[in-house]
Amino acid sequence: MNIAIIGSGYVGLVTGSCFAELGNKVICTDNNRKKIESLKQGIVPIYEPGLEELIRNNVKRKRLKFSPSIKEAVRDSEVIFITVGTPSLENGEADLTGIENVTRNIAVYMNTYRLIVEKSTVPVETGNWIKRTIQTYIKKKISFDVASNPEFLREGQAINDFMHPDRIVIGVESKRAKEILINLYKPLNAPLLITDIKSAELIKHASNAFLATKISFINALSRICDKTGADVKEVAMGMGLDRRIGRAFLDAGIGYGGSCFPKDVDAFIKICEKLGYDFGLLKEVKKINQQQIEFMLRKIKDALWIIKDKTIGILGLSFKPNTDDIRNAPSLEIIKALQAEGAKVKVYDPQALPKARAVLSNVKFCLNPYILARDSDCLLVVTEWDEFKELDFLRLKKLLKRPLIIDGRNIYEPKLMQKLGFTYIGIGRKPYG
Ligand code: UGA
Repeated sequence: MNIAIIGSGYVGLVTGSCFAELGNKVICTDNNRKKIESLKQGIVPIYEPGLEELIRNNVKRKRLKFSPSIKEAVRDSEVIFITVGTPSLENGEADLTGIENVTRNIAVYMNTYRLIVEKSTVPVETGNWIKRTIQTYIKKKISFDVASNPEFLREGQAINDFMHPDRIVIGVESKRAKEILINLYKPLNAPLLITDIKSAELIKHASNAFLATKISFINALSRICDKTGADVKEVAMGMGLDRRIGRAFLDAGIGYGGSCFPKDVDAFIKICEKLGYDFGLLKEVKKINQQQIEFMLRKIKDALWIIKDKTIGILGLSFKPNTDDIRNAPSLEIIKALQAEGAKVKVYDPQALPKARAVLSNVKFCLNPYILARDSDCLLVVTEWDEFKELDFLRLKKLLKRPLIIDGRNIYEPKLMQKLGFTYIGIGRKPYG
């Protein structure tokens, strides 16, 4: 099929290159000309395992191309995916300006039947708005369909998530749209759920909000564990063995971050409010998430007493491992709070240092965990990168001013750390050391 991807960000690039890999002819476009020029030269603006290679291979096979012209993309493609960003407005609502702009352009440039698919995360009823906007701006009488096909990929494993999804959700209103999308996804051989457009839109917001709820639930439990001496990992394991609950997304830590959960929880609260429902549960989920950072900061203070002039080594900056994305990363808030108290901050991250350099100041950027540890008063694990699990702890111990590890992601075993001679503080773990 001939496919246009409008918006070459995270979702757009992964979706476009994966559809090309499945044998389709794909044009990716974006209103950021610079980005398109870089992509044409093979420079991929984000770090996602496997993406650069996938793009390179499909460009070489002429199945994937980049163009700054939305007109060209719309004229050449029967199926148009909208994958532009839907950032948060000041009040938490989703900003749909990008979606509206793109929709108007599609209406102006389409010259024969088009299937317009919203893939960006949008509030329920956006599909209706897209339909009305196209009807308003279209020049001739041309038939078209709108569909919702929310994306569930996770950063860091996006290609695998695209190629092997738990489910594909397709919200449609016509047989034609349904058949096109079924055919497009056929090679993936994945469970397919066909719904109406509004239900598909809701499935996306509901899924992210539910996952965020799971995380805040276990984070709230981590507080109880800390107070009682119970171990949150064992509690999560015990709960997770119940198949109705499941172990996934029950890892306590310093809270969820990234470009999706914080934004989507906010947007979902707002759209529910607009529809006349106060989703108090989600407001609490958000509150617990914010408090989790304060909880971590309290632990640092309890361990170091005075923060001023202490050197703190931050292990990990990205909001989660296997990505260089630092949008809404808890690390940024923690660093800001520590600096406000007068701490000297050193940071290390396997991928996010270049992006962090652009936003952090008065911070010492270190090239490896050992340079980070040298003369630090404590190490703070903020992101659970695999390489942090296999450090030379005896070497670290010698480099640190005092052997103190505060583990915001519970990646180490308290008993083992104690054996190695560290004072170890986790989140909701049994205290040792
Ligand atoms: C999330 C969803 O998992 C995807 O299904 C969805 O497509 C995507 O948002 C989106 O809407 O685009 P992502 O933000 O890439 O994906 O990352 P996750 O792996 O879900 O992690 C989100 C945050 O939750 C991270 O900060 C992570 O550290 C945190 N988390 C996750 C926990 O604190 N505990 C857990 O048990 C799991």
